[in-house]
Amino acid sequence: MEKETIYILAIESSCDDTSAAVLHNKKVLSNVVATQKIHEEYGGVVPELASRAHQQNIVPVVHRALSKANIDKKQLSAIAFTRGPGLMGSLLVGTSFAKSLAMGLDIPIIEVNHMQAHILAHFIEEERMAPPKFPFLALTISGGHTQIVLVRAYFDMEILGESLDDAVGEAFDKSAKILGLPYPGGPLIDKYAQIGNSKAFPFPKPKVDGLNFSFSGLKTSILYFIQRETKKDGDFINKNLNDICASIQYTIINILMDKLNKAVKQTGVAQIAIGGGVSANSGIRKALKKAELASGWTTYMPIFDYCTDNAAMIGIVGHLKYRERDFSNQSITAKARYAIGQ
Ligand code: KG4
Ligand code: ZN
Repeated sequence: MEKETIYILAIESSCDDTSAAVLHNKKVLSNVVATQKIHEEYGGVVPELASRAHQQNIVPVVHRALSKANIDKKQLSAIAFTRGPGLMGSLLVGTSFAKSLAMGLDIPIIEVNHMQAHILAHFIEEERMAPPKFPFLALTISGGHTQIVLVRAYFDMEILGESLDDAVGEAFDKSAKILGLPYPGGPLIDKYAQIGNSKAFPFPKPKVDGLNFSFSGLKTSILYFIQRETKKDGDFINKNLNDICASIQYTIINILMDKLNKAVKQTGVAQIAIGGGVSANSGIRKALKKAELASGWTTYMPIFDYCTDNAAMIGIVGHLKYRERDFSNQSITAKARYAIGQ
């Protein structure tokens, strides 16, 4: 049977990045991301501003994705969009845009769960990546999420554990804020950590049952520690920045690796696929490489463009659902809280 040719336009607007991508089957023809700089001044994402920026960005971003892909919108098979989870005001922009464009073109729409997309990003056809084999464990770590998911098939996923409070990226960013670093501070903590002593300042690890995570206690203990030390020496942060960052990163990576180890033991699955912005972290990458050698794990890391929030990952889910003719109705609405498998 001849292979079907599917062109998907995908739209992602769940948080503070407006993104559009065009996929030809499993290959990405374009993946345009407009990052909203406005939030930097506020030290975090401001929902109302994010929604407004999406409204300004969506038309030019979609236009650019289509022209970069050299595709006319009449060639599109369907439009995939992020239905949730995310910020309601942000999701509404992408959802309404996708619905109206698809209606105008008289093509189907496909709703996509953002968390599922972070995981299925591994199946984008791309030379620098190999797709994981089922079953595998997905560790999704970003500014908005921290989850361990058992993936049995494309659409058979079970959440084994997740953060009960802050996401791991938030733990990085809030720690960075305490140290006076600009937002988002995760990459800076990583940078300084690489030349610091990770054992210099031990921080307590939270005690959380099962495979769930908690990061809010760590943030508080870092805050108290810094307040105590700067009272004694006003220049404490400056003098010890590398060591503080290395110690924070070491603690966070330890927390993640402890739970992953536990998940591997519990499931007997030792194939690990990571995703989300925090997978760029050098500490987690090193720890996973070490586990490959020491414990025989196989690890999969998508290229960075498909780790952070992007529409290409929405597009691959759109493609997989299109093959099943799993389309959505025009009456569909955005869903701010939307668990995998719901
Ligand atoms: O996936 P992402 O771009 O957006 C969402 O939050 O969904 O992830 C952004 C998060 C931020 O918290 C940022 O500080 C963190 O990823 N991040 C890092 C690194 N690069 C990005 N955290 C630690 N080390 C890094 N190298
Ligand atoms: Zn995300």
